[in-house]
Amino acid sequence: MRLEQCHNFHDFRKLALTRLPGPIFNYIDGGADDEASLRRNSASFERCDLVPNVLRGVQDIDLSVKVMGQRLAVPFYCSPTALQRLFHHRGERAVAAAAAKHGTLFGVSSLGTVSLEELRKTHDTPQVYQFYFHRDRGLNRAMMQRAKEAGVETMMLTVDSITGGNRERDLRTGFSIPFKLTLGGMTQFAIKPMWGINYVAHERFKLPQLEEHLDMSGGAMSIGRYFTEMLDPSMNWDDVAEMVQIWNGPFCLKGIMSPDDARKAVEIGCAGIVLSNHGGRQLDGSRAAFDQLAEIVDAVGDRIDVMMDGGIQRGTHIIKALALGAKAVGIGRYYLYALAAAGEAGVERALALLRAEVERGMKLMGCKSVNELSRDNLRFRSS
Ligand code: LAC
Repeated sequence: MRLEQCHNFHDFRKLALTRLPGPIFNYIDGGADDEASLRRNSASFERCDLVPNVLRGVQDIDLSVKVMGQRLAVPFYCSPTALQRLFHHRGERAVAAAAAKHGTLFGVSSLGTVSLEELRKTHDTPQVYQFYFHRDRGLNRAMMQRAKEAGVETMMLTVDSITGGNRERDLRTGFSIPFKLTLGGMTQFAIKPMWGINYVAHERFKLPQLEEHLDMSGGAMSIGRYFTEMLDPSMNWDDVAEMVQIWNGPFCLKGIMSPDDARKAVEIGCAGIVLSNHGGRQLDGSRAAFDQLAEIVDAVGDRIDVMMDGGIQRGTHIIKALALGAKAVGIGRYYLYALAAAGEAGVERALALLRAEVERGMKLMGCKSVNELSRDNLRFRSS
């Protein structure tokens, strides 16, 4: 299978499966516990029907949106995700270049494998810096200070990962960072030689955002251990309110699901919230963000930018979320499979396909711009 044969999410996933060692593919692909939320995220869009209007003169479509003060050329963005150089040797560099080419935002993860300074310098397009709240308060302050100095404008604090999700696929494969060439790993390495050659032939794997603070000398660190040992389960609204004050710029919370929390985010001065169940990777059984979107938009949509992620596989999924009131929609696995499949060219193609789908969908809906979409365009079925 070649890149030109990838026409949708499923094709990129299939191609990624042929390229990546099993433990790495399963790290991206998997969710927590029984993966119920993971499945529900995509299924949630199926209960919602689109009701188009016709004869509206739709030759020129404006897909741009404004979110947290930044203009995006398309209403979707690349959510911050960890460890990208494990999926393709160019990692974040490839994703950032493809996102910039499409005029959209990308997230830089604090578990990223390319430094935020480099990405900020290379691209002046919209970016957010994703980070976690660590037990070490000094580390939290140092990370914010460093982001300020690098020229980061928007901070995105992940609030749904106060402890590690139960990723049973990772337990089975022994996935850890840095990726260890254990006996099982060696077999994978032999089955996927191109991945292995690229991994060893390029710059050493590292986590430049955390390097000084993360002790990996004792061997590999699992994502679960990082969450459970380094993050602070006592984090509360007062702590975050203080961070918002210190940052003194656009601040966003990722992983909000309840209207109460959405209102608190407004009260402490956040510019945005992302409804998310972390791609079904944290609390299994958690409601799909799309199912929760209307309630949150009704509660705070006029005071804060509401975004969402989870389960996006089609342009029409994005259109449905926008019609419900989301300002922009994040994608994760979609671009990660494309990255694994073919690096920058893969991500570029994935974003181009998604863009074409949104544009086509908007035309068929009879909408020339995103703000012409409304709830009148949607009907929900009970089954
Ligand atoms: C994950 C974290 C790192 O879902 O975001 O694996």
